Amino acid sequence: MDQASPSVNSSTPVISPCGDWTLYEHRVVTSTNLLAANLPAWTALRADTQTAGRGRFQRTWISDQGGLWLSAVVPLSGADLEHRILPLAAGLAVCNALQELGLRLCRLRWPNDVMIRDRKLAGLLIDQFVPSLAVIGIGLNVANQPETLDSTLKRHTTRLADLLTEPPGLPALTALILRHLRKLVLELRHDGAPNLLLRINELWGPASEVELDLDGTVRRGLFSGVDAEARLRLWDEAGRPALYEAHQVRHLTEI
Ligand code: BTN
Repeated sequence: MDQASPSVNSSTPVISPCGDWTLYEHRVVTSTNLLAANLPAWTALRADTQTAGRGRFQRTWISDQGGLWLSAVVPLSGADLEHRILPLAAGLAVCNALQELGLRLCRLRWPNDVMIRDRKLAGLLIDQFVPSLAVIGIGLNVANQPETLDSTLKRHTTRLADLLTEPPGLPALTALILRHLRKLVLELRHDGAPNLLLRINELWGPASEVELDLDGTVRRGLFSGVDAEARLRLWDEAGRPALYEAHQVRHLTEI
């Protein structure tokens, strides 16, 4: 999980119930994750635009009008395995929500990018500002224009507007994703990790050759999923597995 200093700016929110969540909706914020730093569990915050949207490893996340920029605050028990599995379970929740919309080809790219074939549809950033809460930040391309605003994203992203004849509106999408997220967070708490890990491992697609950037060192191997402790497992040419935690891997490239 990323560490961040919660210095924020925002418009006045509209606050309303959204299923079992309380939802704050802003016109514009710096970053929904930073604003959510001060909110209690089962509160979510959505903004129409972010002026300083944050991606993994301090990258900027383009957050123009028309996309879903959402942060959800969930309780944490403090167990190590929960810290490792929560980001993966959040990706699974987004995929399950998209499957409910009819997107059958949705898959995960480790740790929690949501992909349609080789294009990124959504990215997740998990922050922890206080010990007992996690902020799950979800950036989902809907009708926004990531490739127009950043030419390096050309042919690397996709949007719900490109995939569905009638993409849902942002309020309906927010409610759908929050419903799936709450279900999985409660399932993790009550039933533990094994069944969730099975479902997460089904979403990576077939085993594939990948390159891991370990902040300087590069390792190549076969990725076929995570182990029972939710660590990335990479098989080398001799069939030996190596295990990595999310904070050790700066980037995974599919080759
Ligand atoms: C990534 O793929 O690098 C993660 C992107 C996460 C973007 C979302 S948008 C809502 C939330 N607020 C942020 O500043 N970032 C996350």
